[in-house]
Amino acid sequence: MVMTNVRRKHVLCVVVAVFISWNAIMYYVLMSRHARKKIPSDVELDNLDFGIQNQLRRNLELLSKLRSLRNETGLGMKSDRTQHVAPPGPSGDDNVVLPILMIACDRVTVSRSLDLLIKYRTSKERFPIIVSQDCNHKLTSDVIQKYIASDNVQKHIKHPNQTDIPLNKKDKKFLGYYKIARHYKWALDQIFLKFNYSTAIIVEDDLDISPDFFEYFAATHRILTSDPSVWCVSAWNDNGKNGMVSDEPELLYRSDFFPGLGWMLERKTWLEIGPKWPITFWDDWMRHQDQRKDRVCIRPEICRTSTFGKKGVSKGLYFDKHLKHIKLNDQFVAFTKKNLSYLMKENYDPWFKHMVYDTPEVTVAEVMSGSKKHLKALRVTYTTKEQYKSTAKKLGIMDDFKAGVPRVAYRGVVSFVYKGQRIYFAPKSDWQKYDIKWT
Ligand code: UD1
Ligand code: MN
Repeated sequence: MVMTNVRRKHVLCVVVAVFISWNAIMYYVLMSRHARKKIPSDVELDNLDFGIQNQLRRNLELLSKLRSLRNETGLGMKSDRTQHVAPPGPSGDDNVVLPILMIACDRVTVSRSLDLLIKYRTSKERFPIIVSQDCNHKLTSDVIQKYIASDNVQKHIKHPNQTDIPLNKKDKKFLGYYKIARHYKWALDQIFLKFNYSTAIIVEDDLDISPDFFEYFAATHRILTSDPSVWCVSAWNDNGKNGMVSDEPELLYRSDFFPGLGWMLERKTWLEIGPKWPITFWDDWMRHQDQRKDRVCIRPEICRTSTFGKKGVSKGLYFDKHLKHIKLNDQFVAFTKKNLSYLMKENYDPWFKHMVYDTPEVTVAEVMSGSKKHLKALRVTYTTKEQYKSTAKKLGIMDDFKAGVPRVAYRGVVSFVYKGQRIYFAPKSDWQKYDIKWT
């Protein structure tokens, strides 16, 4: 074993030496060739160009061989940013391990969520499921243990801190939110600090998922890691009710609003926000500018999750009025085969502005009467908070703001479908920033 490692190291050194010498020789040959004559002709320059290009290509090939040799020998793994890399799959994505963190408490129906995750995931190495359980609930624990026994769930961790949270009278009704925030903090610390994952997908125990849930996150992972203005990918569209989305499951957007409800986060972001994690209302806290810092989430037109948790910490009223009408995508979109670079800020922003502000502006009455039905898309302008709210109510979209940001909005623009027509509910084109006083 020791001998093989020494031999492998030796082979690696020889390859590196050959690589460097080859480059040095080629550089010398190419440079001396053109240095012999003082003024090279066009043909000679073309030849030189061809030579350099050819050499570059060979260097890249050699580099990629070196990389795979290093991975085979296991040398250099320690310095890798991510230590969790799955074997390459057929898709064109980056194959980083994306653990699913399932937040559970006392719902035995966690099995419904787990069954769908297990049904749709393509590999348990690539997408290990880690259930973090709060609440010390024996029956729920037993359910989860069955999944451990069959190796369908990879880890079952239990939140050790079950102490009372002292609250004054008026905050007592929010105890659930305090407990959830405390559990999230502990669970995410386990994922990123103890298990050292570079990324995680966070779900709750009352979520159903779409068939392409994993495909969506696998494909958008690259956007998350390469665009610094993107800090999350979410499966959720807050206005994604039946009849309010188009039949285009491949459609994705940037959103200034943090949607949660099935979302992907990077370790580096956790290292930034984890230490100052709030004691309650963690999702609204994330939406605050102090945390968000103008960063955005990627979100789909059609939700990749939906919730069946009518009875939960928040009241069931919101469930009946809104959540149960959310449309869960039922088609498989091969996102990893698609080029998603249009979601990068530098590509998206100019295109988005054109798309929205080239769309004809109409009044809300014209939208509702259907008098502009012949147009593909319509734009409705808002300038005040009151106008936003009253129009949103009329059109059936969410009318609330968090830290001044309307749900779903990107640069103030809320995109949705009304009676089959695309609507951009938008501020004036000279929009600069959100007004935190809009609540
Ligand atoms: C709502 C949000 C949820 C968010 C929460 C906190 C929706 C549909 N849901 O929760 O995404 O995380 O507010 O702002 O908007 N849980 C614990 N410990 C407890 C109680 C619950 O860990 O003591 C877990 C549950 O297992 C679940 C999650 O917290 O995974 C949310 O609890 P739930 O009862 O579903 O509350 P919601 O009102 O949906
Ligand atoms: Mn819930």
